[in-house]
Amino acid sequence: MINVIGLGYIGLPTALMMASHGVEVIGTDYNKELVDTLRAGYTTFKEDGIDELFQAALNAGIKFSTEYQVTDTYIVSVPTPYDKFSKKVDACYVISAVKSVMAVCPKGATVVIESTISPGTIDKYVRPVIEANGFTIGEDIHLVHAPERIIPGNMVYELLHNNRTIGADNKEIGEKVKALYASFCQGEIVVTDIRTAEMTKVVENTFRAVNIAFANELAKICRHDNMDVYEIIRICNMHPRVNILQPGPGVGGHCISVDPWFLVGDYPSLAKVIDESMRTNDGMPDFVLNRIYEIMKEKGLKEIGRVGLYGLTYKENVDDMRESPTLQLLESQERHLATGLKVYDPLITKDVVANQFHDLDTFLDAVDMVVIMVAHSEIREHMVELKNKVVLDTRNICNLDGVFKL
Ligand SMILES: NC(=O)c1ccc[n+]([C@@H]2O[C@H](COP(=O)([O-])OP(=O)(O)OC[C@H]3O[C@@H](n4cnc5c(N)ncnc54)[C@H](O)[C@@H]3O)[C@@H](O)[C@H]2O)c1
Repeated sequence: MINVIGLGYIGLPTALMMASHGVEVIGTDYNKELVDTLRAGYTTFKEDGIDELFQAALNAGIKFSTEYQVTDTYIVSVPTPYDKFSKKVDACYVISAVKSVMAVCPKGATVVIESTISPGTIDKYVRPVIEANGFTIGEDIHLVHAPERIIPGNMVYELLHNNRTIGADNKEIGEKVKALYASFCQGEIVVTDIRTAEMTKVVENTFRAVNIAFANELAKICRHDNMDVYEIIRICNMHPRVNILQPGPGVGGHCISVDPWFLVGDYPSLAKVIDESMRTNDGMPDFVLNRIYEIMKEKGLKEIGRVGLYGLTYKENVDDMRESPTLQLLESQERHLATGLKVYDPLITKDVVANQFHDLDTFLDAVDMVVIMVAHSEIREHMVELKNKVVLDTRNICNLDGVFKL
């Protein structure tokens, strides 16, 4: 039986996927409300295919609990934020989950850390917890790192099809855990050592962050001299070995805006390009705020309270708002002692920020200028309703006449 610890965006689909492929699974989360919701038969976030997967897992007998189970395999999928000051990984959730596992697990158990962690985290924080409980690693407890690559918005498909990495101290345990993931994963599963697995996951997200920063920097250069960054990128990408990403209003979510900082925190004198890239991406909400003021001036608009941010999540077609560019922009606005920006996101039904609307018509009545922050399908479908507004499109999805771009 597998005990999946942490039933968030990663742990829940993983638990459901294993259960629906014939593995006996109990999911544990210390959030009682979340466990009660799952027990009542409801999923806790929106995602393509998650409800069908949930039903299949329920039919296969998955259980949910706030208690850690006595079993032979644990998968730990708890948050790994970064310390805002040191930039290093904050491993407190992982440490606490492993401590709780140690309190119940029998000798011979395998502990798989799925959470994204910086290289060396297992050596520095996880092994000492296990040894402090009197276990010998490799004899009494086996340690594995199996980082996750799935992207919100396409999680169910990617869980089934992505390639994976398994890091283990010894090949036999690595192969055992590989077989567990192969119960559902149709991609290639590479078995390597733990440090390499830790590093590859962080490097993958860093690659993305640096490339996004390059596109964002191009947007700034092009804005400075009034060139069309999108046309320039389109033409450059016709070169057979060039593939520039698209600029945007910032980077959010719990991966690309977080993980590269781990390398900056651990290697401050070496990770220069990464550091600068992260600062460039983090500076984009400020850049958008400046664009708003520039355009207001050009159009003779006086009131910031008549400007509306359209989209609140960190990416399109998901309801996850963590670290979203819109939230960063609202913080930036407060730092500049301005307030009043209106906000609306068709996928967010609960109240999360001031001046938030829950209906497109009243939102549009309240604003003269709309800033498209997210490329939700639902926003694309209602584009024509913006035709009498001043529009700043940070996602390059609006073709109406006179639209302002980044
Ligand atoms: N969300 C993504 O797109 C994504 C993609 C790849 C990897 N990751 C990584 O996966 C890990 C999990 O991320 P997430 O997005 O699922 O986080 P999340 O915040 O959505 O979920 C984490 C869950 O763990 C629970 N939890 C925390 N500590 C616990 C403990 N000690 N015992 C029991 N439950 C505990 C929380 O209540 C929460 O429900 C992170 O390391 C993240 O970087 C996330």
